Amino acid sequence: MSCSSVKIAILFSGRGSNMQALAHHIAKADVPAELVMTVTNRPDAGGIEICEAAGIACTVIDHKSFDSREAFDAKLDGTLRAANVELICCAGFMRLLTEGFVNGWPDRLLNIHPSLLPKYQGLHTHKRALEAGDKMHGCTVHYMRPEMDAGPIIVQKSVQVLDGDTPDTLADRVIEQEHIAYPEALDMVLKKMAGTT
Ligand code: GRF
Repeated sequence: MSCSSVKIAILFSGRGSNMQALAHHIAKADVPAELVMTVTNRPDAGGIEICEAAGIACTVIDHKSFDSREAFDAKLDGTLRAANVELICCAGFMRLLTEGFVNGWPDRLLNIHPSLLPKYQGLHTHKRALEAGDKMHGCTVHYMRPEMDAGPIIVQKSVQVLDGDTPDTLADRVIEQEHIAYPEALDMVLKKMAGTT
């Protein structure tokens, strides 16, 4: 591994398909990054099995064991810093992070959201896009800021909304684009961190 390799952590809460796509990308020889850990806030997250099968270190920090958001975030922050993490990728991490946490990782905290931001921050994005009659929908990778699903956009990918789409069929097409968008965005961020763009 090259000494200029950026130490990455991926945070997830559920199925973990974005985490898997990122882990697969980071493992490529020409990507100057190293996946040092994944963290999930849910002991029942499906992604844990993906980590086990792939030999990826996964730390469970169950948010239900903490009295406050601040206490959970302090534990998360300490865990990441103890592993010398330099860049955090939230990938289906379904938990709001406190302003203090987010501000502690300036431009070192990325997120993926299943909509063409600034449209549809928050939940149920596919249903909301259908209800609005949108013809295009998609996903966004962005730098995180304390406001939910906000911050400078790095990559967006769009899909056409088709007649007869349901939230599930639309989600299936968007997630395919998510798996392309996040690795692409990560490459851009790594280049920026290396000062080559
Ligand atoms: C993705 O659509 C992500 O953008 C959203 O939740 C979903 C998580 O999927 N926040 P996965 O766990 O990465 O498979």
